[in-house]
Amino acid sequence: MKKEVSINQTLFSMPIACVTVGNWGNANIITLAYVGKVCMNPPVIAIGVHPARYSHTLLETYPEFVLNIPTVEQTKIMDACGTISGRNHNKWELLGLTKEKGIVVNTPLIAEFPCNMECKTVGFQSLGSHTVFFGEIVANHLDELYITNQSIQSDKIDFILYMNGMYYKTEKKTLIGLQGFSKKEK
Ligand SMILES: Cc1cc2nc3c(=O)[nH]c(=O)nc-3n(C[C@H](O)[C@H](O)[C@H](O)COP(=O)(O)O)c2cc1C
Repeated sequence: MKKEVSINQTLFSMPIACVTVGNWGNANIITLAYVGKVCMNPPVIAIGVHPARYSHTLLETYPEFVLNIPTVEQTKIMDACGTISGRNHNKWELLGLTKEKGIVVNTPLIAEFPCNMECKTVGFQSLGSHTVFFGEIVANHLDELYITNQSIQSDKIDFILYMNGMYYKTEKKTLIGLQGFSKKEK
């Protein structure tokens, strides 16, 4: 038996990213849960940003951004990037974070975070409360801890998941199948 729940509740877990926006000098950091890959070729990420955010102005001005993914140990930093505004604070200095140069974009990467995805903005659309910015991924960086023989060790990655205001860790992932396995077993 199912019950109807509010359409404002999200019934799946979402990733968390601290997105850097702006150029090298004025770069800001904003925590976002509205993040998802929406196209394979070219690889495109969509992010949903409220127009009241300081970062929104920077996203409108500079057509690039970087998705920086924190580890579970960096949850407090992630939360702080999502509760204070770059309008009044320099989050880099306040949180002891270091700017790292990207390969393609001028927006800095967060050096302390293990995963950084450089994106070039290819479009945006207001859907109501939030503007969706589409960013084509132009370079990916991942800590070598998570790479063996040039392949990503997904089971070693324990990033934060977000659901309705709660942060979760995915400790001890149990592999339950490989994509396409249902077809092979027919
Ligand atoms: C876990 C978490 C998820 C968030 N997700 C979003 C989001 O997807 N979109 C958004 O506009 N704001 C989101 N926020 C709120 C912004 O991160 C927050 O308002 C931030 O302080 C804005 O920073 P800025 O003013 O420096 O741009 C989130 C905050 C937290 C803590």
